[in-house]
Order: sequence, then structure tokens, then C-alpha cells
Amino acid sequence: MITGKYPSLRLRRNRKFSWTRRLIRENDLSSNDLILPIFLTDGKNKKIEIKSMPGIFKYSIDMLPKIVDKTISNKIPLIAFFPYTLIRKKNNIGTEALNENNLVCKALRLTKKRYKNEIGLMADVALDPYTTHGHDGLIKKNKILNDETIRILIEQSLIQAQMGCDVLAPSDMMDGRIGEIRKSLDKNKYIDVQLLSYAVKYASNFYGPFRDAVGSKSALKGDKKTYQMDYSNIDEAIREVALDIKEGADLVMVKPGMPYLDVIQSIKNKFKIPVFAYQVSGEYSLIKNGIKNNIINKNAVVESLISFKRAGASAIVTYFANEVAGELD
Ligand code: PBG
Repeated sequence: MITGKYPSLRLRRNRKFSWTRRLIRENDLSSNDLILPIFLTDGKNKKIEIKSMPGIFKYSIDMLPKIVDKTISNKIPLIAFFPYTLIRKKNNIGTEALNENNLVCKALRLTKKRYKNEIGLMADVALDPYTTHGHDGLIKKNKILNDETIRILIEQSLIQAQMGCDVLAPSDMMDGRIGEIRKSLDKNKYIDVQLLSYAVKYASNFYGPFRDAVGSKSALKGDKKTYQMDYSNIDEAIREVALDIKEGADLVMVKPGMPYLDVIQSIKNKFKIPVFAYQVSGEYSLIKNGIKNNIINKNAVVESLISFKRAGASAIVTYFANEVAGELD
């Protein structure tokens, strides 16, 4: 590998000016790599800042065109909808998830109608925004029920597909749900809907601000460790991905992002499938607050996003998407 040595070899020569650094750059970030999450709330003409996520807002449905227009002009390919559900619409089985007029369904319908295929639409498949206990599945005697939950997730998937969702993203971590959802999508002729499996989702401490944003934080009883992964493990991540690919996932996600670059790299090397990274809410808020308080400068955002590209990610779900897209080439 090494073909010379100092002083005839000087790696700094290739770094001496911006033009040569640009020529030898190994990874680039463009807006094609970004996915923007959008939080939804009830009402009209609402744009409410999320306290734990400075600069990030919940929008009422009528405000969507403004933000979608901006996202399209920033050339971002995909947006993901997340609902803030009113407590009175929640129950212990998450019935609101199957309401064709819930926030996500309305947003999918209206955005698909208005923008056709100018931009892709993604939605989570999971019950946590809709359950009073804040868990992703049904509970019985303190146990999260796997197969019973899948039955509801199948219905949720079909409804969201019918509303115009392009990319369904099961984020619930139940065993076997990708295969079951794929089967029923096929049976119902939704053969073109992509499945982005949150295949490797860790029981992480970085989700706090998101749970705030969707209103599941105060609701959440206990933790999610019986279904989300132990953050000490990587072999298990490989097994999760292998299963989801076999069951019919088109894309796989690793979540959270920056603490798990090794996981992204291993999966990419092993499976050669598009791997998406989720730079989660806690990562966003830490970086954002660091910038706000002059602890780091704003170029740290691009640095954090390039790290995903270096690790092998094809795309990154990030709350910085619109903010950063304008600055990219
Ligand atoms: C829930 C879900 C979570 C996130 C996306 N979908 C949180 C959780 O599992 O509790 C977190 C995203 C973020 O923190 O930005 N199915």
C-alpha cells in the first residue's frame, strides 16, 4: 500500500488548497441523500416549535404545502410524516392508527394528490403515537404481544398504502412483521410500495425529544428493551437484517445514527443493500444546542452527515435536511 516515505512522500501536498482537496474527496453529501421528517398536529394555521428540538416545528395539515414546496425546491427526495396525537384520541390498543382521517392519512392523501410523484412519501408503521402507554404494540400483563400487534400493523400498512404512501417504514421491531406486511400488500395489489425496515433499531437513550414531539414521552411506561435491540450488540443486528431482507424489505434502516456507524458499515459490506441511517432527535438537539451556544460551529452538521456516507449509508433521515440542503452543491 505505502509506496514511498517521508520526505519524498508528503500526504499534505494533496491537501494544500481547496481545489485539490475537492479533487481527492472520497465522499460527498448532496440533497439526494436526505430524508426530512415532518411532525403533524391538529388545527389550522399552526406552526408550533417543539421545546426539546429548537428550530423544529409541528405543522397543521394546511401548512404542509409551504414546507413541501421548500423541500422539493431543495431537491430532497423523500419526506416522512409523524403525528402528534391528542390524548383523547389515544387508547390502549392504538385504534387511531387505523383511522383513515388521522393526521398521517390526511397528510399522505393531500400531499399525494397535490404533488403526485414529485416527492416520495414515507410513514412509520407502529402504534406508539396512538397508544396511551406509548409502546409500539399491544400489551397484555406487561408483555408486548408480537403476533397480535402484527395483525394491526398489517391493517395500518394497507390503509397508509391506500392513502398514497410510497415507502412504508415498520419501526415497531416485532418479529416477522416485514414478511406479513409484504404478503398482504401483494395480496391487495400494492406491489410497488417499498418497505423500509427499521431492521436495526436500538433501545436508545437518544429518542427523548421525538417522544416529546409525538406526545408519547409522558405516556411511556417502562422501556422498549423487550423489542428494540440492546445497544451492546452487532451480530444480532446482522441477523435482524438478514431476516428482513428474506422477508421482503427493499431498504433497511439503522437507528440511531452516529453512535452506530460500525453497524451501518458492517451491514453495507455484508448485504450490499441500500442502508439508511436515522440521525435521531437526541442527536439533532445535541448538535443544534451546541451550535446555538457557540460550543461548536454550524459546519458540524455537514460533518455529522458525511460520517454516514463514509460508513456506507445511501440516505439519512435528518431533522437538518432542509436547513443543510441549501448549503450543499
Ligand atoms: C417509534 C419511533 C421512534 C422514533 C421514530 N419512530 C421512537 C421510539 O421508538 O420510541 C425516534 C426518532 C427520533 O428520535 O428522532 N416507532
